Amino acid sequence: ENHKLWGGRFTDATSPCLEKLNRSIDVDKRMYEEDIEGSKAYAKALQSIRLLTVEEVEAICDGLDIVKREWKEGVFEVLHEDEDIHTANERRLKELIGAPATKLHVGRSRNDQVVTDMKLWMRLNLRRLDEYLRNLISTILYRASHETEIMMPGYTHLQRAQPVRWSHYLLSHAWNLKNDSDRLGEILRRINVMPLGSGALAGNPFNIDRINLAATLDFDGITQNSMQAVSDRDFIAEFLFWSSMVGIHLSRLAEDFIIYSSKEFEFVTIDDSYSTGSSLMPQKRNPDSLELIRSIGGSLFGQCCSFMMVLKSLPSTYNKDLQSDKEAMFTTFDKLISILEVTAGTVKTLKVNSEKCKSALNFEMLATDVAYYLVRKGVPFREAHHLAGQVVAKAEDKGVSICDLTLEELKSISNNFGVDIGKVWNYENSIEQYQAIGGTAKSSVLRQIKELNSWLEKN
Ligand code: ARG
Repeated sequence: ENHKLWGGRFTDATSPCLEKLNRSIDVDKRMYEEDIEGSKAYAKALQSIRLLTVEEVEAICDGLDIVKREWKEGVFEVLHEDEDIHTANERRLKELIGAPATKLHVGRSRNDQVVTDMKLWMRLNLRRLDEYLRNLISTILYRASHETEIMMPGYTHLQRAQPVRWSHYLLSHAWNLKNDSDRLGEILRRINVMPLGSGALAGNPFNIDRINLAATLDFDGITQNSMQAVSDRDFIAEFLFWSSMVGIHLSRLAEDFIIYSSKEFEFVTIDDSYSTGSSLMPQKRNPDSLELIRSIGGSLFGQCCSFMMVLKSLPSTYNKDLQSDKEAMFTTFDKLISILEVTAGTVKTLKVNSEKCKSALNFEMLATDVAYYLVRKGVPFREAHHLAGQVVAKAEDKGVSICDLTLEELKSISNNFGVDIGKVWNYENSIEQYQAIGGTAKSSVLRQIKELNSWLEKN
């Protein structure tokens, strides 16, 4: 005889190897609290339609509180027959309170229960994740607002392009993360729709008041089709994509600092507390923190891909394939928290070597400014660009820097060159041209800091 909750129609026991594969308790026990919260609300809803008495609901809620405490204190004893968190909690409740426990699951299925639990868990924990994200943003903001005077080369194709403020560079990462946080808020809206009351797939046959139930559980709304509700894992896929996107952002930040911390650049020094040494080469100081961030960024996308493949071509409603959703959710969550934390620590403690940043600037990076100089004298941009190119070529020919060409040499390229060209050979002046919103001029950088700070305060 089969003693499982669903064992009524079975005569033979489950094969031990299937038993092992089928069990999800080791993973989904992490949602014990959400499972209990959902059951308590469901019990109250059953009372409203007279499937439970007031006394029975009280016994169930008190019993569930004990179960919760056992989990919390780490004394809940998981038994061999506990397949998942739902069966484990119900089994334990029955041991504690007897008969009323056997009435709780009426009209409900683990199919609507598990999605409800996951949504409750996500709702709570995505907010925690958002705090880590915000903490990283404010770490970046703090640096950016204290280091506005530092200038560095801005790169495209990893080639020196134009001088920028270090703060402007730092803030570019903060803006990506701000977008991630905004996106998270949008996902949360879609998560907060309650599937409970969908049963196994057909709905609830006792006309349970789902709207009221949703209010008890603090959901903003309810799902409108039971078959869709039990099979919907879009919110998991969205979360996994979202996490990959954050991971990608962090990996790009990490890659920058790996490059900037190399001896060839030396723009930054990663703090001892976020680097490690080599067991062989005594001089080494490796940016392991950043390398781990970079690689985990990739593995988060792996989780997303792998779960999308689970979803692909799945027949309608619930299929056991979906059980893997929780592992993907928890693993992704944990990894993301850990890299957000390490990124914040690394960014907070790194040292920026402002002299190195500045000495990496060269006057050829001002070739664009030479073109703009001519534009300001009335030369059309395409022509000015061409003439500035000739300036670069001439300097290269002579083997000097473009700022060392004489006025005569410049005049031989264009008569529009005058003594005021001298003002162009100044990195700060170059940077200060970019006053329009979004540029690297100081006023624009300060404006970004203000915007991000007030966004942080508002949300
Ligand atoms: N542990 C299962 C899961 O996480 C719960 C739902 C089981 N439903 C079922 N019909 N077997 O997916």
